Amino acid sequence: MPPEEPRIIKLKICLVGDEGVGKTSLIRRFVTGQFDDAYIRTLGAVVSKKSVEVRNGRGSPSQVDMVILDIIGRRTFMQLFQDAYFSGARGVIAVFDLTRKTTLRELPAWINGVRQTVGRVPVVSLANKDDLSGRHEAREEDFTEILGPLGVTVMRTSAKTGENVERAFLELARGIVLAPA
Ligand code: GTP
Repeated sequence: MPPEEPRIIKLKICLVGDEGVGKTSLIRRFVTGQFDDAYIRTLGAVVSKKSVEVRNGRGSPSQVDMVILDIIGRRTFMQLFQDAYFSGARGVIAVFDLTRKTTLRELPAWINGVRQTVGRVPVVSLANKDDLSGRHEAREEDFTEILGPLGVTVMRTSAKTGENVERAFLELARGIVLAPA
């Protein structure tokens, strides 16, 4: 039998979280495999694209074209355009910075903001800057206390070293594509 043609699925994914937590850097690491120490604030929203392959339990492949939105890290500004940014999003990556606990405290407001527009889509939360271990302010018990009630998965990442970055994006894509309809 000829091999099965891959299905093509288009997924819009939004990255949210406070300024400077590493959203742009995580996307750059995932899409280009690179990291840059310079900080250039994202204004509005920037779109990147990457295709990945997801296989279901029977091993049949799907080509998943991820359209990734990097959104400004100021909630007051984002709220003005919330519906335009989030409309059609199938999944969310919610990022906080392990070296600034306030960014973890703000995360529920970001997640609830997206859910207001798109409902309960899958959310993966990233505890970023894991490489700066001497400067961490947020601890595992803080993740559980603040994010536990929202029912989101938390993964430690570093856009600088690449730790868990590909895995986080792929797990979100798999979670969406393989979720029962
Ligand atoms: P806004 O555009 O303001 O929302 O910021 P952002 O969330 O997109 O953050 P950005 O990716 O621009 O990163 C902010 C700064 O943190 C930059 O100087 C990055 O180089 C740095 N940075 C991002 N991720 C990491 C990381 O995992 N480890 C370290 N050490 N630095 C990081």
